[in-house]
Amino acid sequence: MDSIIVTGNGPLSGTIPIAGAKNACLTLMPATLLSDEPLTLTNAPRLSDIRTMTALLESLGAEVSTLQGGQVIAMSSHALSSQRADYDIVRKMRASILVLGPLLARFGHAVVSLPGGCAIGARPVDLHLKALEAMGAELELREGYVHAKAPGGLKGGTVEFPFVSVGATENALMAATLAKGTTVLKRAAREPEIVDLAECLRKMGAQIEGDGTDTINVQGVERLHGATHPVVTDRIELGTYMLAPAICGGEVECLGGRIDLLSAFCEKLDAAGISVEETKTGLKVARKNGRIRAVDVETEPFPGFPTDLQAQFMALMCTAEGTSVLEEKIFENRFMHAPELMRMGANIDVHGGHATVTGVERLKGAPVMATDLRASVSLILAGLAAEGETIVNRVYHLDRGYERVEEKLRNVGAKIERVSGA
Ligand code: EPZ
Repeated sequence: MDSIIVTGNGPLSGTIPIAGAKNACLTLMPATLLSDEPLTLTNAPRLSDIRTMTALLESLGAEVSTLQGGQVIAMSSHALSSQRADYDIVRKMRASILVLGPLLARFGHAVVSLPGGCAIGARPVDLHLKALEAMGAELELREGYVHAKAPGGLKGGTVEFPFVSVGATENALMAATLAKGTTVLKRAAREPEIVDLAECLRKMGAQIEGDGTDTINVQGVERLHGATHPVVTDRIELGTYMLAPAICGGEVECLGGRIDLLSAFCEKLDAAGISVEETKTGLKVARKNGRIRAVDVETEPFPGFPTDLQAQFMALMCTAEGTSVLEEKIFENRFMHAPELMRMGANIDVHGGHATVTGVERLKGAPVMATDLRASVSLILAGLAAEGETIVNRVYHLDRGYERVEEKLRNVGAKIERVSGA
């Protein structure tokens, strides 16, 4: 397993290109199952999760070809051979459940393995299933698989989510495009990735209104046609790299960055003493003079502070002046980076969904363990300004969501290298 070695270095400067959004691409790809015509995605990120989704679609008989080094994904599901998504692929990536809605909507039946939990929590899919039942689906759970049927096709209905779920909103939205009649999604997720999916589905002929608000209306259509769609910028990769100059000092421009993707996060950066300036090509981030100020954060669904940036922001708070309380309100177990940061000298007290961080002058490099995608990158960020060497192990987590992280950071002056393990 590969490791990444980071050595604390001086201020950073230069530009970092931000890729297309992993979490948009992982819902745009299953959308190909809704039509027998080709769907092509551009600005796609080159990540192992994308390769996993490719393998899943190919296991169903879809044709997927990647061009331009993986930045273009051309898909066609005109000759699908199966509507069964097997456990051996689904267990690798929760987002696999997003093939359920499209398969059911287009073919009237699907057998999809339940994804199982993951490091950050149990992460059930009950909201996905209830949404499809509200559209007339008949579901049966058997031996770890969801056996779904919609004889005569899905019917429009009202889906009232008890709380916001990004994936359940995506599954229901895709299924509703081909349901007979009108579907209303209430307390829908408002993330930019939902809006990006709706824009792509509209290009395919879907009739959708209200995406980006908490109520989405879908008028079902007979069929959807092919389209070409650019994947929206990855706001989580963007926020992650904005934190690099915040932690190290200096000034970095994140190419393709947009403030509207991360307004709550940018407000917290401003409160902490980081300047963010919109340029013609992205977002320029610099640390104002003086020490970082501690600020409190609570994670919320969009447009609130993203849970996927909580671990990275904690890395910044470790050397801030004062005490910061981070409240994780989305997942039940998303502080696994805290013990690893404490190995580097951070002063963090975790109680249930709260982590209290009391800033120290400087962290010290140490061998640390990556436990999940966002935790792993928070350890790299912490290592950028720590005294000495930090060795981050199990970086396969990292490769799921960040393309060429060591190259992007080295290009702005970080001392970082990947060491291939056994
Ligand atoms: C998406 O996961 C993202 N993944 C996650 O990013 C992100 O953290 C999350 O949304 C929240 O923004 C992708 O888009 C591929 P949810 P998702 O359904 O859809 C509970 C990353 O690092 N829940 O909004 O799985 C769930 O357990 C990943 O890129 C149910 O109880 O998240 C969680 O506590 C991590 N039943 C909360 O709701 C359900 O049926 C929010 O989950 C569905 C969810």
